[in-house]
Amino acid sequence: MHTNTSSERQILVTSALPYANGSIHLGYMLETIQSDIWVRFQKLRLISCYHICGTDAHGTPIMIRAQKEQITPEALVQRLNQEQKQDLHDFHIAFDQFYTTHSPENQELANAIYAKLKTNGDIVTKTIEQAYDPIENMFLPDRFVKGNCPKCGAPDQYGDNCEACGATYAPTELKNPVSSLSGATPVLKKTDHAFFKLEHYSEKLKNWTQNGHLHSAISNKLGEWFEAGLKSWDITRDAPYFGFPIPGLVDKYFYVWLDAPIGYMASFKHFCDKNALDFNAYWRQDSTAELYHFIGKDIVYFHALFWPAMLMGANFRTPTAIFAHGFLTINGQKMSKSRGTFITARQYLNHLHPDYLRYYFAAKLSSGIDDIDLNFQDFIQRVNADLINKFVNIGSRLGAILTKQFEGKLSAHLDKPELYDQFVQQAQSIALGFETREYHKAIREIMALADIANQYIDQEKPWALIKNPETHDKAQAVCTLGLNLFKILATYLKPVVPSLVLKIEAFFNQGELNWENLAEPILNKTLNPFTPLFSRIEAKQVDLMMQEAKTETEITIQPITAPTIEPTIEPIEPLITIDDFSKIDLRVAKIIQAEAIPEADKLLKLTLDIGEGRYRQVFAGIKSAYTPESLLGKFTVMVANLAPRKMRFGLSEGMILAAKSPNESGLYILEPHEGAKPGMRLQ
Ligand code: MSP
Ligand code: ZN
Repeated sequence: MHTNTSSERQILVTSALPYANGSIHLGYMLETIQSDIWVRFQKLRLISCYHICGTDAHGTPIMIRAQKEQITPEALVQRLNQEQKQDLHDFHIAFDQFYTTHSPENQELANAIYAKLKTNGDIVTKTIEQAYDPIENMFLPDRFVKGNCPKCGAPDQYGDNCEACGATYAPTELKNPVSSLSGATPVLKKTDHAFFKLEHYSEKLKNWTQNGHLHSAISNKLGEWFEAGLKSWDITRDAPYFGFPIPGLVDKYFYVWLDAPIGYMASFKHFCDKNALDFNAYWRQDSTAELYHFIGKDIVYFHALFWPAMLMGANFRTPTAIFAHGFLTINGQKMSKSRGTFITARQYLNHLHPDYLRYYFAAKLSSGIDDIDLNFQDFIQRVNADLINKFVNIGSRLGAILTKQFEGKLSAHLDKPELYDQFVQQAQSIALGFETREYHKAIREIMALADIANQYIDQEKPWALIKNPETHDKAQAVCTLGLNLFKILATYLKPVVPSLVLKIEAFFNQGELNWENLAEPILNKTLNPFTPLFSRIEAKQVDLMMQEAKTETEITIQPITAPTIEPTIEPIEPLITIDDFSKIDLRVAKIIQAEAIPEADKLLKLTLDIGEGRYRQVFAGIKSAYTPESLLGKFTVMVANLAPRKMRFGLSEGMILAAKSPNESGLYILEPHEGAKPGMRLQ
């Protein structure tokens, strides 16, 4: 493809695969803008470089979300994959392939790698005890058990670590643990799991992690893990799980983190098969291709230990380097739904141009793992001052004059060739900034050049020169140099603001700008009529975006409350219409708690799960027919929009349906057929 490449480099780049249980947010955009700039920079230099990504399809949260939406996980993944693809595309992230881990290629590779590790003796089976939800009948991932921190007692902490004091622990150590799926107290249950013996690779990994494949801050952090000693890695999850079944085992699946990085290979395999490329040339042990993974600092453990160990064990090449970045904060704070600072890619795009954010991130990014803050005041100020006032302005001032006064024609020579050369000579140093991911340095140098170009224009004043016929030619030469300087700056900025530069290329009308034609000035050519390129950011756009982010989260986190309906009046007619019937919101409900009210001889107090994280408390007069225990986990039907009634023992938020004959004893609650899910509406 890149026939005139001077270099023999072959590069494969990946960005971390976003989970299919949520929308793309600005934190992930930090990652993909970083990787996309790097890949576009390589392509600008005509180096062969592919950028691979895809949806991370597997795992419990995705399975649960699909259940809540009452669709299959496959359907959820497919929808989110499309949505993610569109969001990333609209941010001008130019992946060569955006695939999914739920693919035949990935299953085949995961099975093959697992089989090889097994032959090596790297897989062992152990019986473990794990938290189990007796109502949902499933093992609970750490994040699905909540309780009081065993160290500091803080309530409502996840099963793996405490957000209040930072302690890490096993979910079994939590005090008063509850399952966040059903509210039940988890029990411990035994299960057999396959483990990957990471410790078999201790020596090799130690060398690998200290040999320039990682940023020094990360190598140091990993050093601590080696000191603590590597442990076997649990690669098994019990059914029900959305993932690939482990060959040879029953009801056991590969943990999502086993097949996720293999998804990089699978996605590339898919791309190679479509484009007749040699997959093995990139992945075989002695491959000379370069392989880079862009990831966030939270997933270093998986990429710098488990992943290279798996590759070593299966006789594939290991990554050339892992490029980890810090986290994005917004206005100085962690992105948070409740604070309204959780902004999705789409909410941003609804109000602002993607190149603004691309520029802002580039101006702040380095190769380190420090967090990066998106402060909106600074964002508006910085983008307007640099990108618009310094850069775009050069083109606007001179482009307008050239179009109006010289019919778009550039002169045959440059006013000051030495100034042009000075701009070209900066190429190496700017390239180094991009190559080493010190984008902020590259941007600083580019903007310093833009300052020089502006000073030159201010000094020469072409708008004054055109007024005098004697200096008319000089004015044209000044515009010609100024626009050629603008062209160099546009080439340098092309990886950062690709759609802005696309418009500039259209204005110059000389084909694509790239590193090879950087030094050649455009002379004696007629350019297209100049049209405005880009406008400033208005504070109002940011306000509207923040508002949208806030309102949308309010809607999603607010529990849906039943609409109050008019109290039922005695029907005049015995018949009702379908509209009357449809006013009654009948829902499938699951009884997750039941207790007797000692003071009331008929009543049981029930907690009902009615789907989508909504719960209702109902007092039902069924004590004569059911013990509380016998109801736990049972499904029934409730009237979900009955106006709540205040009773002596508390609020009753609905009614469950039971059958009873007027003249016989006996009472029978209604139960839907197996397969019905909480929240399903009866119709
Ligand atoms: N599915 C895994 C990655 C598997 S890669 C084989 C995952 N997904 S994620 O959706 O949670 O995160 C995707 C990437 O976004 C990760 O690299 C993560 O570090 C990054 N970020 C998530 N939130 C972020 C910020 N607030 N800021 C910057 N990057 C962030 O992890
Ligand atoms: Zn704590």
